[in-house]
Amino acid sequence: MSVGKAMSVPEEMSALRVHAFGELPRLDRVPVPEPGPEDVLVRIAAGVISHHDLTVAGGDFPLRPELPYVPGLEGAGYVVAAGGGVDLERIAVAMPVRIFGGGLGSARSGTWAEYVAVSARAASPVPEGLDLALAAACGSVAATAWAAVLDVGALQPGERVGVTGATGAVGSLAAQLAVLKGAGSVVAWTRSPERAGDFPAEVEIAAPDQALEPVDLLVDTVGGSGLPERLRSVRPGGRAVLVGYTAGTEVHLSIPHLLAGDVSVLPLNMMRRRLPKGLEAELVSDVAAGKLRLAVEVVAREHADAAVARLTSGAVSGRLVLAW
Ligand SMILES: NC(=O)c1ccc[n+]([C@@H]2O[C@H](COP(=O)([O-])OP(=O)(O)OC[C@H]3O[C@@H](n4cnc5c(N)ncnc54)[C@H](OP(=O)(O)O)[C@@H]3O)[C@@H](O)[C@H]2O)c1
Repeated sequence: MSVGKAMSVPEEMSALRVHAFGELPRLDRVPVPEPGPEDVLVRIAAGVISHHDLTVAGGDFPLRPELPYVPGLEGAGYVVAAGGGVDLERIAVAMPVRIFGGGLGSARSGTWAEYVAVSARAASPVPEGLDLALAAACGSVAATAWAAVLDVGALQPGERVGVTGATGAVGSLAAQLAVLKGAGSVVAWTRSPERAGDFPAEVEIAAPDQALEPVDLLVDTVGGSGLPERLRSVRPGGRAVLVGYTAGTEVHLSIPHLLAGDVSVLPLNMMRRRLPKGLEAELVSDVAAGKLRLAVEVVAREHADAAVARLTSGAVSGRLVLAW
């Protein structure tokens, strides 16, 4: 039972659905979902295509959705209806919202669709003036970058920080946050120096295998077989936060080298991490105010296949967002 519809909602909608794990999604016509008592129904403007979505669509996520399903963990749009149990003081009909989590794209239908029903707790107001594609794109990656640099990484003032995959969404925000939060110096290791034009002047751009003065804290977003070599770029007693694996999931570590290097290797798991209340909203406000920058590439839903292929091959600069 829903209340307060701001605009007429059609019976049917377009949605990209995965019909078999490991296959590309198909554009289907499906019924518009009905929000539950604690849910809002959101008309999606922008649905993020993330590495997490591709992991779920590949069948590699511990929670395998029932097929066919609509992917998309994150997005933004307008609330068009709200269930009877929703606190309308916080999330009102017609409000622009970001949506993230709440089982979207795995336990329940996600944001690669024109409409999504989502728990109101997974919706947050979009700061005034913030473009919906950027609003959809920035929340979780900014929170991940913050957790990597400041929470798990425990950055101390004046420390030297290194970031790999530095022009990626998490990498670029990690480098910017390190500067903003008092790092003494920041090195951005990237395969794509041509995409690094937006970094603050304090950030030193380097090729992935370029040896430099050791860092105190490494934020590694790429993983893969090059990780042991990269750990040597951290000073003895330093920390390496492992965030991602765009360069590969497997790594061979020599225990004697690990002990000799004396680097704390710290995995980051955002599914388990509890962030300070209001932190993500604060980071989104920093994006809206231009204090943090994130490259966003908007693609038409008809071009989702090509976009997925480009994200898989590492050819995307920043966050990919499907326009609905
Ligand atoms: N641990 C967590 O809880 C958590 C949370 C969020 C994301 N993640 C993970 O973090 C990683 C980064 O996410 P993202 O959203 O920042 O991705 P992204 O925007 O696609 O950035 C990844 C970057 O990695 C580099 N890269 C891509 N393919 C590569 C390859 N084959 N070899 C070496 N470098 C490669 C590229 O940077 P350059 O061109 O600059 O080198 C690329 O821009 C992903 O694996 C994602 O799943 C983990």
